[in-house]
Amino acid sequence: MTTRTRDGSAARVGQGDADSGCPSHRGPDERIARLVAEALGDARTVLNVGAGAGSYESAARAVTAVEPSESMRARRPTRLAPAIDAVAEDLPFADGAFDAAMTLFSVHQWSDVRAGLREMRRVTRGPVVVLTFDPALVRDFWLYRYAPEVLDIEARRHPPVEELAAALGGTWTVQTVPIPLDCTDGFNEAYYGRPEMLLDPAARQACSAWSFADDRVRERFDRTLRHDLAAGIWDGEFGHLRVRPVYEGSLVIVRATP
Ligand SMILES: C[S@@+](CC[C@H](N)C(=O)[O-])C[C@H]1O[C@@H](n2cnc3c(N)ncnc32)[C@H](O)[C@@H]1O
Repeated sequence: MTTRTRDGSAARVGQGDADSGCPSHRGPDERIARLVAEALGDARTVLNVGAGAGSYESAARAVTAVEPSESMRARRPTRLAPAIDAVAEDLPFADGAFDAAMTLFSVHQWSDVRAGLREMRRVTRGPVVVLTFDPALVRDFWLYRYAPEVLDIEARRHPPVEELAAALGGTWTVQTVPIPLDCTDGFNEAYYGRPEMLLDPAARQACSAWSFADDRVRERFDRTLRHDLAAGIWDGEFGHLRVRPVYEGSLVIVRATP
């Protein structure tokens, strides 16, 4: 069952602030946006579920945004259409109402992922596109050395891609999204070659998994990463990432057609 929090968010009770994953360090990255656009194909009418402040919404398409959090709806720029207050699990649209649908960095916050994706499938004639992290891969990132608790949380929160695909049905693909070295959307892996960025508490706060970790985890992370950077230990092992143009980590696009 969907549980609404005080500001209208549909995040699960006990998962903390549903908005904490979307503050100022998070903005669309144009290269990732291009892949999302490609996955949507030539769709004109697009549903965006868990739309937040509207990152990755393109003016070239007729976008209908759904966002249950009042504070996130309020953050939408005026050039974008206002978002409808609804949840993925109960979409207020007719069957096949949209050419395509997308949900970006959102499914891990839903109270019933299967129901939400089934709803997206119901209201969409063409592709349903899910941008998310593959929980089977999140621990492969160097951050696991310094803050395993945070990536354990991330892995637990994100539904397995097979579960997403099964809920969507039809024909589906899973595509790894190459993350650019200067990625402008500040999720953890965006800093694969810029480890110093994660020493900034504001950058960490933009990735909601950090808000579920306790102070002890954050303090140990800060101390050990600072030490390893100063001693050249991080660079000895991971320094090649500083010049790698793209990183293929756990960010994926699951795309399903009927
Ligand atoms: C991390 S933000 C991502 C926002 C936006 N898609 C982006 O990429 O910037 C996740 C969003 O999902 C929304 N959300 C949480 N539970 C939801 C649900 N059950 N149905 C629809 N949206 C939900 C949250 O309110 C939040 O705005």
